[in-house]
Amino acid sequence: MSAAVALLRDRGTLPVVVADDAGIAAGLGEALKAGGITCAEITLRTPAGWEVLAALAADDALLVGAGTVLDTEQVDRAVDAGARFLVSPGFDPVLVERAQERGVPMVPGVATATEVQAARRAGLEAVKLFPAEAGGGLPALRALAEPFPGMWFLPTGGITAETAPAWWSHPQVLCVGGSWVARRDQLAAGDLDAVRAAAAAATEAYAA
Ligand code: 3PG
Repeated sequence: MSAAVALLRDRGTLPVVVADDAGIAAGLGEALKAGGITCAEITLRTPAGWEVLAALAADDALLVGAGTVLDTEQVDRAVDAGARFLVSPGFDPVLVERAQERGVPMVPGVATATEVQAARRAGLEAVKLFPAEAGGGLPALRALAEPFPGMWFLPTGGITAETAPAWWSHPQVLCVGGSWVARRDQLAAGDLDAVRAAAAAATEAYAA
């Protein structure tokens, strides 16, 4: 089993965080844990993301990775900041190789069978399916997963509390990613109660 699979399997939900204010880091971590969520992907698409990544990665009770990793400099900087896994929207073998050199698993985005094959050739056992809903939803995953029985998928993009359970039911889904647990607008408003409630609901739904 690859490191990415070992880290993310059975987690249920991977909250995707887009943070505009680094001041929410501590409260965000506590809200996720209070809701039973033990992992998060902190995207690097905002300047505050770097600080939130470093702050949350220092919490041993959380598995924290970096998302929206787009170049090798970001691979290095995210690993140096404590990221334990890396996620990118698309598949770039150069980034995967750099992550492998740094000893941190990368889960790159794929949307086609060609990309799954390329990821497989790069030695990966887990890919992000992106954009999951806009790219065809669960029927697309079913079709795409069929020829790759050893591949795990992390569907992300457009998934909600309502649609997550259907994705969980697919046997090759590693866990389900999405921003619905820690919404950008709620984080910007400092509404951590909403984050805790959404995290608790996701935990309960996954256990059901
Ligand atoms: C991602 O960064 O992986 C996606 O943009 C998250 O998609 P969502 O906001 O639709 O959950």
